[in-house]
Amino acid sequence: MGVKITETVLRDAHQSLIATRMPTEIMLPIVDKMDKIGYHSVECWGGATFDASLRFLKEDPWDRLRKLRDGFKNTKLQMLFRGQNILGYRPYADDVVYSFVEKSISNGIDIIRIFDCLNDLRNLQAAVDATNKIKKQEGRGEAQIALSYTLGDAYTLDYWAKMAKDIENMGADSICIKDMAGLLVPYKAEELVKTLKESTKLPIQLHTHYTSGVASMTYLKAAEAGVDIIDCAISPFAMGTSQPATEVMVEAFKGTDLDTGLDQNKLAEIADYFAPYREECLKSGLMNTKVLGVNIKTLLYQVPGGMLSNMVSQLKEQGAEDKFREVLEEIPKVRKDCGEPPLVTPSSQIVGTQAIFNVLMGERYKMATGEFKDLLRGKYGQTVKPMNQEVIDKVIPGEERHTERSADAAGLTNEMEKIEAEMKQYKQQDEDVLSYALLPQVATEFFQYREAQQTGVDAKKADKENGAYPV
Ligand code: CO
Repeated sequence: MGVKITETVLRDAHQSLIATRMPTEIMLPIVDKMDKIGYHSVECWGGATFDASLRFLKEDPWDRLRKLRDGFKNTKLQMLFRGQNILGYRPYADDVVYSFVEKSISNGIDIIRIFDCLNDLRNLQAAVDATNKIKKQEGRGEAQIALSYTLGDAYTLDYWAKMAKDIENMGADSICIKDMAGLLVPYKAEELVKTLKESTKLPIQLHTHYTSGVASMTYLKAAEAGVDIIDCAISPFAMGTSQPATEVMVEAFKGTDLDTGLDQNKLAEIADYFAPYREECLKSGLMNTKVLGVNIKTLLYQVPGGMLSNMVSQLKEQGAEDKFREVLEEIPKVRKDCGEPPLVTPSSQIVGTQAIFNVLMGERYKMATGEFKDLLRGKYGQTVKPMNQEVIDKVIPGEERHTERSADAAGLTNEMEKIEAEMKQYKQQDEDVLSYALLPQVATEFFQYREAQQTGVDAKKADKENGAYPV
């Protein structure tokens, strides 16, 4: 049985290379050809695409999903989902999680890849249960649980093996090794895939980033060890901080037991379509040479690419670009202090911002962000390692700490009704309530923009003149 391929060009590849700015109008003309390739799935939604569509592209992400579903008649559509944090930055009550899963599937998603930023599996159960319930009703919807891959003494092969078994018991359909920072090197991948294959019968998918330059070799060793599916991006949007190139992996396995069966000529047509758009992005500066090439330092600092670029812009805003190195060295220390979690949205932002505070204030934990305090309070769930008691005593002295899953720790029961009441003047479809739930301010601005456009005001043009719309 050959290796299967998930194509990421419509989600992670452009999230990694052009800050998630690919508009729907670039995607649609190539959908028909992509639909005939025979991919295992096309990742096209979730992650940062939701935020970027509303905030920067002034597009309704739900509308994008429906258009993609319309075009992809034969291919499974896949999304990335942050567990109890959905596509947002805080935990939500179960009714919001349920509703979001339901609307994602009814608007066109087949596979939901669900992860938790602390690898606290309790934070994934609601999303998995929702997916399974809707699958029963609609005959469509698969729950894939991702382990957020990271390094540290707690993260042994036994740890991952136990997690894989737990995931199987939770009712997931498949497991993803989500290596968001590109830390998984070839022989470690072989070891990990073998271990997971021994602990579970579920199909294993591997997701990595090319950042440190080893990713194609990692896929090769993982495939030899029995990995079922790999995430790749069509060549014009591959490599650098994105995924290994689809065509390269197809060629590597050709004529072997691992042959993907995909047609290089058909893939070339997809690449030809995206190549001029890549040139355009390079010319406009949307694609920066900084995200291309190989950066082996990723392995030293273990910081995901997206987090690095966020950090640079935060330091720029503070006029403190010279502190970059110091902050980079502070990140692993802050990570240790808060229980050595994986660094992935939102834990990556929380740890990154706190590291910046620690350096810029000249004293560690002199000030802490609200989110960092909540992390220490246990409101995002449990970390693998205990947190640093001295830091807890300094940042949240004498405060109550929680051990429940995130939604319970944060005391969230039902939220939908309250959220809908807040935004009902803007509601044109049920999905609008969910957009607002995740990004109240950004969604409100989008709703106002949409209304202005519907009433005939050329808001896009007005925004362009104000510089608010990315040209
Ligand atoms: Co990724």
